[in-house]
Amino acid sequence: MEKKYYITTPIYYPSANFHIGHCYTTVVADSIARFKKQEGYDVYFLTGSDEHGLKIQKKAIESGVTPQEYVDKVIENAKDLWKCLDISYDKFIRTTDEEHVRAVQKIFKKLYDKGDIYKGEYKGLYCTPCESFWTETQLVDGKCPDCGREVNLVREEAYFFKLSKYQDRLLEYIETHPEFIQPVSRKNEMINNFIKPGLEDLCVSRTSFDWGIPVTFDEKHVVYVWLDALSNYISALGYLSSDDTLFKKYWPADLHIVGKEIVRFHTIIWPAILMALDLPLPHQVFGHGWLVINGGKISKSLGNYEDPREYIKAYGVDAIRYYLLREVPFGSDGNFSLDLLITRYNTDLANTVGNLVNRTLSMLTKYFDGEIKKGEETTSFDNDLIDLVINTHDKVVEAMDKLEVPEALDYIFEIFRRCNKYIDETMPWVLAKEGKTELLKTVLYNLLEAIRIGAILLKPYLPRTANEILRQLNTKNEDISSITTFGNLELGIHINDFKPIFMRVDNKNE
Ligand code: MSP
Repeated sequence: MEKKYYITTPIYYPSANFHIGHCYTTVVADSIARFKKQEGYDVYFLTGSDEHGLKIQKKAIESGVTPQEYVDKVIENAKDLWKCLDISYDKFIRTTDEEHVRAVQKIFKKLYDKGDIYKGEYKGLYCTPCESFWTETQLVDGKCPDCGREVNLVREEAYFFKLSKYQDRLLEYIETHPEFIQPVSRKNEMINNFIKPGLEDLCVSRTSFDWGIPVTFDEKHVVYVWLDALSNYISALGYLSSDDTLFKKYWPADLHIVGKEIVRFHTIIWPAILMALDLPLPHQVFGHGWLVINGGKISKSLGNYEDPREYIKAYGVDAIRYYLLREVPFGSDGNFSLDLLITRYNTDLANTVGNLVNRTLSMLTKYFDGEIKKGEETTSFDNDLIDLVINTHDKVVEAMDKLEVPEALDYIFEIFRRCNKYIDETMPWVLAKEGKTELLKTVLYNLLEAIRIGAILLKPYLPRTANEILRQLNTKNEDISSITTFGNLELGIHINDFKPIFMRVDNKNE
């Protein structure tokens, strides 16, 4: 039976100003999804946009359009960015989609009927110019953290979700399922900073603005954006709709991959809602670190970034994917700078891979007219190369099981580095000069086969590069099943036209 794998990114606030940090969650999720597909899983990869709430309503007012017009316009920006980054999602959900709206309304009603949502009064600190509620601890010098003005104590009729009721079950679940919150540091933070000090019931409706999903039985209320947004993970699969085939097939999610600042919503509020709905919890929530610039935030107001599409235009999409996947260590923050991007590009992509492929294909053209042949003799360096290549798949699988994406990628690059060393060891130009044709055939075959296997393993991470390498090799054996043994590169075929895949870029600071 095919194994299923349901993976999600957070749904993004629609924006006209995405930065490179925003690309991180989605590129990582895309690679994991592609990897699982390659491993034979039946994968469903969900992403989308989070379109309700006061913030969006305000932006729409500023732009002089309705909230719906605003989100319809900026949504194209997100879709275009994902297209430019080769994101292979199966569904893009919008929280303004009819089906999502209906599902959220049903979820709200279900929880209300069950007694887990009740009507009460919200008491909080309110900033009128910003139309925002704050807690005491969020204030900066007793003032609104957004605009610095005075806040007032206000009361508003609101519905509450009985989060406190689920505190003990949640704690027990987290403690008995160590894989649920990853990395471990985030799990400890959730337990010690949020759950153990005590969970308060959560305000899940608002009456002070109307850009949200109306509560069906009390229409002056709109559903709190996080209840609305989190529900996307099940509404996208048709939960509580007339066709819940996908839901039955894919839920519970195998992985919610989210940035560290929203782990709290995904590991406290979301599981409590699922418990209230009597649904199984996702297998894992992985909270990744942030991409930072000079140790600090990437932000529009600091003006420290460009649209990621500018980098894609300059260096190609795989340079950006590679940087994001390789540079940010497992679960922690990673730095972004153009310098580092160019250095990684030149050393790993242009030199280690690009140059290797180009050199090898040039030698095959020069010595054998581009025909792939097998030699009758072997060199003393072959076994070491072959062993490393054949064992790489297992190492990649092991790293990916732990979501150690940079490590997985590094194992694959080890193949290309080993190939370069093999060229130095065997010196094919000397073999050619000395007329050792059989050895020369062997060396070039081993290199090309190692490159083919490396390219297949590279597909989930750098799909374009991998496919271009395989195209240049003119091989039909592109499947993961063809890399369990060494020697599946077809003999007698002629390589396709080829050119360098990556051109070195001048780095002014290098
Ligand atoms: N709409 C909510 C998520 C709701 S999910 C039910 C949201 N949206 S967001 O647009 O602000 O963020 C989307 C993702 O981008 C989050 O995972 C967030 O962590 C990630 N990133 C935003 N800036 C980032 C960096 N500088 N670095 C890495 N990831 C960052 O939160």
